[in-house]
Amino acid sequence: MTVTIVGAQLGDEGKGGVVDLYGDRVDVVARYQGGDNAGHTVVHGDQEYKLSLVPSGAVRGKVGVLGNGCVVNPATLFDEIDSLRERGLDPDVRVAERAHVILPYHRVLDGIEEDAKSDSELDAGTTGRGIGPTYEDKVGRRGIRIGDLLDPDVLRERLEYVVPQKRALAEDVFGVKTGEEFDIASLYEQYRRFGERLAEEGMTVNAGDFLGDRIDADENVMFEGAQGTSIDIDHGIFPYVTSSNPTAGAAATGTGVGPTTIGTGEVIGIVKAYLSRVGTGPLPTELSDDETEEELADQIREKGGEFGTVTGRPRRIGWLDVPMLRHAARVNGFTGLAINHIDVLAGLGSVSVGHAYELGGETLETMPTTTERWADCEPVLREFDGWSEVDWSEVAAEGYDAIPENARTYLEYVSDELDTPIYAVGVGPGREQTVVLETPFE
Ligand code: GDP
Ligand code: IMO
Ligand code: MG
Repeated sequence: MTVTIVGAQLGDEGKGGVVDLYGDRVDVVARYQGGDNAGHTVVHGDQEYKLSLVPSGAVRGKVGVLGNGCVVNPATLFDEIDSLRERGLDPDVRVAERAHVILPYHRVLDGIEEDAKSDSELDAGTTGRGIGPTYEDKVGRRGIRIGDLLDPDVLRERLEYVVPQKRALAEDVFGVKTGEEFDIASLYEQYRRFGERLAEEGMTVNAGDFLGDRIDADENVMFEGAQGTSIDIDHGIFPYVTSSNPTAGAAATGTGVGPTTIGTGEVIGIVKAYLSRVGTGPLPTELSDDETEEELADQIREKGGEFGTVTGRPRRIGWLDVPMLRHAARVNGFTGLAINHIDVLAGLGSVSVGHAYELGGETLETMPTTTERWADCEPVLREFDGWSEVDWSEVAAEGYDAIPENARTYLEYVSDELDTPIYAVGVGPGREQTVVLETPFE
């Protein structure tokens, strides 16, 4: 059976924690898109792990797969594997031979284009990891794949075609002087060696075959989405998006497991009880209108530790955006929800949600398709009575009924609006700080 974990909002909803929560019954955890732009946190006991590429199941010793839909920076991957080994874990990570490789020039070009776009406010506030430029080269049929690193002749041939174009782009179009990130000989040496290590450690696979065989043998596979639905390249707030599809459909194309297999499993939407956003673009329910709202945002940011996992940037904060969630529920076909960070909102006199939008005299229940129209939306707020601070670990141990009544009213409102049952409620960052209502692999 398969379970797909998808961010319902703007990333950082707590996906890593949910993968870890359900990870005991899982045999393999596979990523299907994105790269080291992701930052997934797993907290277990006094240990905190921040994972960018290694699937979060590694903390429980589960096999990890980076599917063909991912973009892989081998330098980050090996650094992460090495530092997890130093911490006593032994990550078993397999990488799809069809996955595309992030090269140093992709990172440089990511920065150059963000700079160029910033004058017209089109910059997405990327993580600077070269994600967009790598996916561009994939779609432009000039990318280099993991499988190419295993064959030095192919690697050299590919580099000889693409690098002069990248150099010309940086120098002639953007007027930026290039360095060794654009040097064929040094790239060849460095990436040939990455290929050797991948081969020596037996890390490369045909992801579809590898996962298909596991599923045929009745093993449990979890697909770990990165980023979130509203920063999906197709379904998100373009152009303030990432360059891949975090939405559930990509679990099939990004791993080579058929949609009929994934469709018979579960798709769990991960929801943060409010909004946080690293990066730019409009945000109708953002708490930034006046000093009172800004103070409230500061309070939530501090309490929730809302600073980017990858970049350390302070995250923007807003009330829950329910039209955004309705859109996510439709696009992903959620079968269950995990709603996190209920504890962060504790102690507020009242908690609001953007229930709908007002736009040009009309009331909208879901997100408009253009970012400009979304920016013009005024949220129609609905206010809920707040809940007090309690001992959340005790609540997690006792179960759902121990959650303060007003928080349950809030949770049930979200579940009703999305017509989707709640599987888990996050009441703190740790594995044990979760109220579990459903275990999908049972
Ligand atoms: P991801 O990218 O979706 O995996 O999420 P991140 O790891 O980037 O950000 C989520 C942050 O919130 C991490 O620091 C988690 O440890 C933490 N977290 C997850 N669930 C909860 C929760 O229910 N309550 C609190 N207070 N923190 C949580
Ligand atoms: P996880 O998996 C939150 C955002 C960036 C930027 C936009 C494009 O931890 O939820 P990119 O570097 O991908 O080209 O940047 O997407 N972004 C994320 N925001 N969480 C993430 O990952 C993100 N990955 C990318 O801030 O706005
Ligand atoms: Mg994150």
